Amino acid sequence: MTRPTISIINGPNLNLLGQREPLIYGAETLADVEALCRATADTLGFDVECFQSNREGAIVEELHRVRPFARGVVINAAGYTHTSVAIRDALVMIDAPVMEVHISNVHAREEFRHHSFISDIAAGVIVGCGVQGYEFAINRIAALRPATAQA
Ligand code: DQA
Repeated sequence: MTRPTISIINGPNLNLLGQREPLIYGAETLADVEALCRATADTLGFDVECFQSNREGAIVEELHRVRPFARGVVINAAGYTHTSVAIRDALVMIDAPVMEVHISNVHAREEFRHHSFISDIAAGVIVGCGVQGYEFAINRIAALRPATAQA
């Protein structure tokens, strides 16, 4: 039997997690994050599809692709969080909970990171919890749309 799917989307520079500013983003790699997401979702009865891109249009196209079936979306749009109307517009079309995650506490950083084009249309926002934020976000999606519920 196929299980409902949660889409995990990571934006630019997150492919270099582990190497990138480890004091801010920690030592875990993107592969670690994706494994954490898979394990968390699995215990809750979900599959995950993980996607990372450094390109805005590719993220928009992935959102279009998962739109028909995603039971929820966890997105760390990284730098595009603060700039992208296009990613926001694609997220608005998703008929499932969208959880916005930031590894660092963006509110304790530069002013330009305080504004998000995603937060007001997200079901929830998790910042500053490290990569554990992805785990929290998946748990929240499962609470809102349990795997056992009909679509
Ligand atoms: C980030 C925060 C963004 O401001 C930054 O551009 C990132 C990562 C985070 O996970 O803390 O690339 O989204």
